[in-house]
Amino acid sequence: MSASRPRPTTFPELQPIDTLSEDEAREELAELAAAIRHHDRLYYTEAAPEISDAEYDTLRRRNAALEARFPELIRSDSPSRRIGAAPAAGFAKVTHTRPMLSLENAFDEADVRAFFAGIRNFFSRPADQALVAEDAIEVMAEPKIDGLSIGLRYEHGRLVQGATRGDGVTGEDVTANIRTLPSVPEELKGNGWPEVIEIRGEIYMERTGFFALNEERAAAGETVFANPRNAAAGSLRQLDLSITARRPLKFFAYAWGEASAPFARTHAEALTKFAAWGLAVSDRSRLCRGVDQVLAYYHDIAADRAALPYDIDGVVYKVNDLSLQERLGMVSRAPRWALAHKFPAEQAQTVLRDILISVGRQGALTPVAALEPITVGGVVVQRATLHNEDEIARKDVRIGDTVIVQRAGDVIPQIVGVVTERRPADAKPFQFPDHCPVCGSLAVREPGMVARRCTGGLICPAQAVERLKHFVARDCFDIEGLGTKHIQAFWEDGLIRRPGDIFRLDPTIIAKREGWGEVSARKLVAAIDERRRISLERFINALGIPQVGQATARLLARHYRSLAHWRAEMEAAQQPDSEARAALVDIHGIGEDMAADIIGFFAEPHNREVLDDLAREVTVLDHEGQARRTASPLAGKTIVFTGSLESMSRSEAKARAEALGANVTSSVSAKTNYVVVGADAGSKATKAASLGITLLDEAGWLALANGAGAAE
Ligand code: IVH
Repeated sequence: MSASRPRPTTFPELQPIDTLSEDEAREELAELAAAIRHHDRLYYTEAAPEISDAEYDTLRRRNAALEARFPELIRSDSPSRRIGAAPAAGFAKVTHTRPMLSLENAFDEADVRAFFAGIRNFFSRPADQALVAEDAIEVMAEPKIDGLSIGLRYEHGRLVQGATRGDGVTGEDVTANIRTLPSVPEELKGNGWPEVIEIRGEIYMERTGFFALNEERAAAGETVFANPRNAAAGSLRQLDLSITARRPLKFFAYAWGEASAPFARTHAEALTKFAAWGLAVSDRSRLCRGVDQVLAYYHDIAADRAALPYDIDGVVYKVNDLSLQERLGMVSRAPRWALAHKFPAEQAQTVLRDILISVGRQGALTPVAALEPITVGGVVVQRATLHNEDEIARKDVRIGDTVIVQRAGDVIPQIVGVVTERRPADAKPFQFPDHCPVCGSLAVREPGMVARRCTGGLICPAQAVERLKHFVARDCFDIEGLGTKHIQAFWEDGLIRRPGDIFRLDPTIIAKREGWGEVSARKLVAAIDERRRISLERFINALGIPQVGQATARLLARHYRSLAHWRAEMEAAQQPDSEARAALVDIHGIGEDMAADIIGFFAEPHNREVLDDLAREVTVLDHEGQARRTASPLAGKTIVFTGSLESMSRSEAKARAEALGANVTSSVSAKTNYVVVGADAGSKATKAASLGITLLDEAGWLALANGAGAAE
């Protein structure tokens, strides 16, 4: 497309994504890719943006949302894939108008006392001594949250820039990312803020959000973040803003850089103003007087550490009086008026008794260290994560080893290394299982993935409950009134073991359970009965095959059209060189590793039994496409395009064929019905001819497509 062509900047009447057809989505994705590319160039190369950051973000978010709904339509030139491409790949550099300082550290009480003594010496004039006496000096004590520091520049009360600390002098412009954080106000509230003020603070992730994120990543076979700090930094520095937006990032303000006018006399007053302006500040800050009070604060916080929702690695003390701060100034890169009092490293050594394997929701096998119980920072630790098999190998962890356990950020203990000098002669290297320890099914590790995964599917007890929950979920069987609590309870009592059991629930038994009665039990069974007829698409989604979600289920349903056909093909696909396997991989949107998961699912006898069992209970409707499409001569036909067409691009031809109910594949096989041969076609045409497949030239294709259109 030419650069001069007007681009859509906003989409005033965005159609809800749920109601978009594939064709509409495809078209919109193409428009978005062009528009975003255009605005990127204006912004990065010409420094002359035409639209606001917020409008630009809207485009990117819409693109991400469309891609999430239609993963098979992700373009090779999608803006979300443009990571690593210059110059849009990087974050612009920002030179801080005031350097972002670091803090001097104290590791024990003596260091803290020396800090106070240093201040007293600094103000040795008798007139000042009263202000800074050991028991009189006012100091603000604050938690030191372990995240990454950020400067937020507000001009006339509006957020104009967010920048990372970088090396303290130059950081990165993360304005667009920052704007996705709910705790960063776009506009300051109230009044009294200086015209220009750069608020500084920390971006962090609470532990619950961190755990959930890691769980999600582990289940998807992605590397996990070592701690909330890394998770926060990794989440903020994303070129795809939709990723940042989805991560549970928070911000709290604790300092400031440039301010066009003085706005407070003390640090405490500044924090109060920040809060009034709508910025988050710590509710654990405390104004202390003298060294003993700050030490008491330190011990209080340390005792509370595990109860805080976020990780802290110490506390920070700041001289409260800003005029004293000013006078104290800084030494090298740290202010003389502040001190970080760090918690001692929470590490301990203990013996690794065994390595256990826990099985996650999607079947990911996670190694867990079973330890000789040990107290680490006041908490007894008997289990620690070893992350994955590569980590075990990298650290050369063996059973019987003395290992260093760390409570990284308090709660998830991890093994940071081995004390090799203490390795006993009989220490045993760990053989990572290639079968699921719970159900015995094959556990496979796909290329490029860190997680090994149990292929037991619905039959693995560890996965079964989670999968049952998925089975009844909204995009699957959508059984009203059968919530996750019920699934868990019915499972525990043996009422539901596999999906088919749901359809055999006995209302008289349920009615007798605590919290149930005859009416509610009958209602549940009626809701279940209502779902005995289900579309192929929902059915496939409900099976919970790794990597197969709604979009892939739709692709499979459209391609195979009936459960019987799909199943027969997947059974045939067990042969590595089979045509059925090739045909599966050939479906646009299904890659090799996804195909392996699908085929792996059918390789498990348990899964086949579950399917047989379900077949007795439910009717899986054939995929019809749209009813009108069945009238098209292309409905259900497999078509291959080769060579270039004059009247339309290959993508358009493909889209048109699909709209008429055809399966478009890229390779020719005995199952191919038509091969459309354009200019400069190669071997596919020859192969098709040798297989006796109908060859169409462009005119023939158009006649078929248009004829089909006319028949609609
Ligand atoms: S004050 C000159 N206060 O700790 C003031 N920093 O180790 C500079 N941090 O770079 C920072 N909580 O990222 C300050 N309450 C707090 C803090 C805090 C966490 C971080 C910040 C800083 C690092 C220094």
